[in-house]
Amino acid sequence: MSKLIKVLMNKDSSCLPIWFMRQAGRYLPEFRKIRSNNKNFIKLCLNAKLSSTITLQPIDKFDLDAAIIFSDILMVPYALNQEVNFEKDKGPILSNFKIDDFLSCDARSFKFKLQPVYDLISITKKKLKKDKSLICFIGAPWTLIIYMFGLKSEDNKLNLDLLERKKKEIKLTLDKLNDYLCLHVDNQMKSGADVVQIFDSWAGMLPEEKIDDFCFEPNAKIVNFCKKNNYPVICFPKGINNNYKKFNEIVKPNGIGIDFNVDPEWIRFNLKDVCIQGGMNPRTLLLDDDSIYREAEKYIKIFKDYPYIFNLGHGLLPETNPDKVKKLINFIRENN
Ligand code: CP3
Repeated sequence: MSKLIKVLMNKDSSCLPIWFMRQAGRYLPEFRKIRSNNKNFIKLCLNAKLSSTITLQPIDKFDLDAAIIFSDILMVPYALNQEVNFEKDKGPILSNFKIDDFLSCDARSFKFKLQPVYDLISITKKKLKKDKSLICFIGAPWTLIIYMFGLKSEDNKLNLDLLERKKKEIKLTLDKLNDYLCLHVDNQMKSGADVVQIFDSWAGMLPEEKIDDFCFEPNAKIVNFCKKNNYPVICFPKGINNNYKKFNEIVKPNGIGIDFNVDPEWIRFNLKDVCIQGGMNPRTLLLDDDSIYREAEKYIKIFKDYPYIFNLGHGLLPETNPDKVKKLINFIRENN
């Protein structure tokens, strides 16, 4: 059994698996080389051989305990007939959401469009050592809705007026999206993934009175689907502060990723029957070695004798020096 599964499913606190969100990607020169020859990001994600190579780059380099597939949460809107473009330094740009296009989608064409992702998983699984886990992922419905409906401004503010105006359409979309997301999880797990992570990167944007409908409930539906199928599941509802406690009580995933704005000590004593993952600010990796070690030690100490997966509070930043990542991993392995 892999270290990650032992901690996540058996709540075995005797080992400390390590992986990083965005471990495959922009901070690695070997990724940038491939990327420079593949200008279309979606096409790169749909190239199963290349995306498998990218998935394994950080494993070969750092011997991490888990590989996360090289893909994107926006592959789902892409497969649901919305145009998705990634422009340099601008982030993703989606074409206007058209409800009729969305409603005219069906499971067969969805699966057909995403088949390269499933192929990437089966290819990678074969190459990965047995003691390592392969993580697949989806975006949580709310985070996808943000992109699909263009609900946030460039300075990351939620457009509440638009949310109100599109209320009916959004409700309808949420329900159908849930079905497609469960299907995508199912297909990825059946292709050989070991764990699924649900990224709710924009959960923290929700006003208190909307968090039940847009965060807890949609995450719970997918987690229930996973549990019914015995698929190990980690949720990452970023930025929800003290609502992490309620999230855990309602959604009940096997693991919860925490961000760097919550107090890890508070988390340690308030979240019950769940494995905790991450927390350390990715910006720490831009500091000197001692600051990195001090911060890592803080998390290791707080979560000693607790089922904990070492990770960060969000993805590795593009400006991270890979040598610092190596040093951090060595430090964790020596001090655990
Ligand atoms: O290593 C890994 O974690 C696996 C690959 C991965 C990517 N995206 C590749 C990627 C994962 C897990 C994601 C998830 C993702 N994508 C999230 C949730 C996690 C988070 O960061 O909050 C979100 C919100 C997205 C949407 C997205 N994709 C954005 C906002 C951007 C542009 C800016 C950015 O963060 O990179 C992307 C593009 C993207 N996805 C890149 C990579 C490597 C950069 C592509 C490039 O080279 O330009």
